[in-house]
Amino acid sequence: MIQEQVLALLKASGTDYLSGQDISRRLGISRAAVWKAVEALRQDGYRIDSLTRRGYRLAGGPDVLRPGELTGQLKDCLVGRELVCLDETDSTNTELKRRALAGAAEGLALIARKQTGGRGRQGRSFLSPEGGLYLSILLRPPLDPTRAVDLTAWAAVAICDGVEEACGVRPQIKWPNDILLSGKKLCGILTEMEVEGETGALQWVIVGIGTNIDLDPQVLPPEAAAAATSLAREGLSVRRSDLAVCQLRALDRMYRDFLAGNRARWLARYRADCATLGRQAVLLRRGTQEEVFAQEVDDQFRLVVRHADGSLEAVSSGEVSVRGLLGYA
Ligand code: BTN
Repeated sequence: MIQEQVLALLKASGTDYLSGQDISRRLGISRAAVWKAVEALRQDGYRIDSLTRRGYRLAGGPDVLRPGELTGQLKDCLVGRELVCLDETDSTNTELKRRALAGAAEGLALIARKQTGGRGRQGRSFLSPEGGLYLSILLRPPLDPTRAVDLTAWAAVAICDGVEEACGVRPQIKWPNDILLSGKKLCGILTEMEVEGETGALQWVIVGIGTNIDLDPQVLPPEAAAAATSLAREGLSVRRSDLAVCQLRALDRMYRDFLAGNRARWLARYRADCATLGRQAVLLRRGTQEEVFAQEVDDQFRLVVRHADGSLEAVSSGEVSVRGLLGYA
């Protein structure tokens, strides 16, 4: 724990030296404990410069996900104000659900290096080996459940923000919430919520995001491999913790706007990012396939499709496949 706090302070001070005395005062620990933590971090692969009378400075470190890498940069955030990093779990959504049922507070974020039982939309599994960022956040919006259903669309825009901030490239959204780069799937989002049976009150919402960082597509089944991409495959290199910070900060900004009711702004942003619009698409539902035109996203984030007879229909579920835009679950 002390190690994580020392790491967080060193990260926050960037290229400036931080004196051992300063660290010991800020954390309320002895100078010897600071030295011990610095040595332990060095053992973990961190390069920490030290200069007499000036103190310590972080010069580099391994590309790992651990609280000390993240917490210093999430200080003002509601989303991510508490953070758990796991090496492995069945599913970050499932684990967070267990913690939500045990009373965990809003804002808790859970990150895993790999998942053994990753879940996707429509009951599908989501293969989650090392090489991805598997992240879930717990929200408890004080709202009617009907007002929380489109959080997943807001989250899609936030994830585009997070990727853009971390990597300098803005992905696109395949309706309803696949995140694509070069027409292939980079991230999947699974939003789940619980409503109390008796009162109809919303208990919790969990938004889970899986992002391919440098996952080797060959580990995926052939069909999924063809539809998937990763940041590395697109020539983008990013530290895992930087991507996690950017995603969490973007989700935090989104959630504040969500609570403030700034819906029109996010609807406009969603429409601008949505690659499905203005294209011929195939609507796949109840075992049927139909050629339609993806005309617009309405005020409830539903996809309005034009049928061959010219009639319009707002679609809120089902799958839409668009030539040139791939996706997998
Ligand atoms: C989909 O594309 O169908 C949604 C995939 C969502 C995957 C993420 S990874 C983190 C979180 N934990 C899960 O088990 N699923 C979500």
